[in-house]
Amino acid sequence: MKTVKDYIRTIVDFPHEGILFRDVTTLFADPRGFRMAVDQMLHPYAGQRIDVVVGLEARGFILGGAIAHQLGTGFVPIRKKGKLPGTTISQHYKLEYGEAIVEVHDDAIQAGQRVLIVDDLLATGGTAEAGISLVERLGGVIVGCAFIVDLPDLGGRQRLEAMGMEVHALCA
Ligand code: PRP
Ligand code: ADE
Repeated sequence: MKTVKDYIRTIVDFPHEGILFRDVTTLFADPRGFRMAVDQMLHPYAGQRIDVVVGLEARGFILGGAIAHQLGTGFVPIRKKGKLPGTTISQHYKLEYGEAIVEVHDDAIQAGQRVLIVDDLLATGGTAEAGISLVERLGGVIVGCAFIVDLPDLGGRQRLEAMGMEVHALCA
């Protein structure tokens, strides 16, 4: 039987030379693969209270929407700078191949809400750390951070675990 990893392809030198880009569009496009990924990402949180799912742009939106639907919770997007229409708070961060600013609406999470953070991939952990910081600045309590892929050589998991986060990924 195919595993989640079998549905993901690697594109060499995208978006820059030297990057092995893990392309999850092939996983998302497959009905069995997509369902398997969503189900497996939820597994560690069975029986835990989650009030809201937070997804990181862009592929975290696809996963986060499906996960929120399955949990029966709402979904909150963390977006790249300038995309959200309401009043936002911002966080700067560094990427494997650049830097960026992410934002969340300042009324999107209520203090004390239990939050699951979702993205497709953990590399350096910079994006997730920025997302965690935004959620915590709004008073959210992070239950865990769920990814499909963890690239262990880039140190993201250690970085998030050092912040006290529970990290789950389906494959490396
Ligand atoms: C990718 C991926 C994660 C992030 C991981 O997104 O979807 O969000 O990089 O890298 P990090 O752990 O080093 O921060 P990307 O920045 O390519 O943005 P996109 O999904 O909007 O294309
Ligand atoms: N984001 C950061 N590094 C990445 C990689 N190697 N593949 C896909 N997304 C990424």
